[in-house]
Amino acid sequence: MSKKEEPPKTKKEKTTPTKTTTPKKEKEKEPEDWIAEIIPKKTKPRASKPKQEDIVDVAVNQIPGIGPAVSEKLLSAGYITLAAVAHASPYELVEHCEIGEQTAKRLITAARSQIGIGFKNAKELLVSRQKLEKISTGSKALDTLLAGGIETSSLTEMSGEFRTGKTQICFQLCVITAMSKKLGGLESGVIFIDTEGTFRPERILQICTRFGADPEEVLNRISVGRAYNSDHQMVLVLESPRLIKDNNVKLMIIDSLTSHFRAEYTGRGSLLERQQKLNKYLHQLLRLAEVYEIAIVATNQVLSKPDVLYGETIFPIGGNIVAHSCTTRVFLRKGKGDKRIARVIDSPHIPEIETVFCISSEGIVDIEESD
Ligand SMILES: Nc1ncnc2c1ncn2[C@@H]1O[C@H](COP(=O)(O)OP(=O)(O)OP(=O)(O)O)[C@@H](O)[C@H]1O
Ligand SMILES: [Mg+2]
Repeated sequence: MSKKEEPPKTKKEKTTPTKTTTPKKEKEKEPEDWIAEIIPKKTKPRASKPKQEDIVDVAVNQIPGIGPAVSEKLLSAGYITLAAVAHASPYELVEHCEIGEQTAKRLITAARSQIGIGFKNAKELLVSRQKLEKISTGSKALDTLLAGGIETSSLTEMSGEFRTGKTQICFQLCVITAMSKKLGGLESGVIFIDTEGTFRPERILQICTRFGADPEEVLNRISVGRAYNSDHQMVLVLESPRLIKDNNVKLMIIDSLTSHFRAEYTGRGSLLERQQKLNKYLHQLLRLAEVYEIAIVATNQVLSKPDVLYGETIFPIGGNIVAHSCTTRVFLRKGKGDKRIARVIDSPHIPEIETVFCISSEGIVDIEESD
């Protein structure tokens, strides 16, 4: 969903449309208006800039001295676009593609110059941010909290204690991303990395009913990868680029980010190793989000620190490594009954505010929609 579009309509809303009879009054200037003023409509992307989707096997073969054998290696290691090569480090290409260091360096330099990595004007950045797709959560309150929904090209963390609605939010995001555009969806693919064995297609069907979405279409667009340990979780990320391209994936869910890392690396002695591995994983995720312009939503469990004297006693797992890597962090807690409270605890553009939503049989709903 683009920022200016309405959140998807639920069946309830469609049957009882509300008539808006706002009296005419002088319109206050919205941020969009002054953005439109400083960015003339005629602004065009630089004509010489090649598309990011340039496929490696076509583009890489243009580089002198690089043959089909190298592009074959890049493709099978998951480096499908020039952007993926441009964002890689030589060490990484040597390790994953079994090519020489010199070849890796030449590839990266050529890819960077082709897609124009370098400084960008802030006005250009504003224009490209205006075009960023956002995925509605299906709750007006949550969408407002997130300034329009879950942003693509970024990593969003949903943390909270058990039963706070992390997985339910993910299920609903899957449905909205996969369902048809005429219902307010994105008609796009989803990758769901399930580390806890909690993915439930039956729940996806229940949520589809609420939006009147075609259940078969939605289920077909969701690819579920069950990760059995942290190594497997990391391998699944390396295997994702092909799936992202083939299925036009716009959303990747990691439910949950830290459970395997936490279970496998116990005790103080292994904390450093765990954090280093988690850091590597988070950087892989961030790059995937940016290179393929997808939204990544990772759920995270919490840790209780009862010895803290003032302020919060519950913290998302992963410490500073997770805190610094996630673009937007949302903390969930239980309210009365089916109510849940979501609070933005870190974001480059959203203040620390909170809102209330409900978990119902139909998925994540606003309080007024709850039975
Ligand atoms: N079909 C349903 N109808 C109504 N509520 C449901 C339904 N399915 C799950 N829930 C509610 O959702 C809540 C669980 O939410 P969720 O699975 O998102 O928890 P979580 O935050 O992911 O927890 P965990 O950390 O254990 O994974 C429970 O309160 C449960 O009652
Ligand atoms: Mg869960």
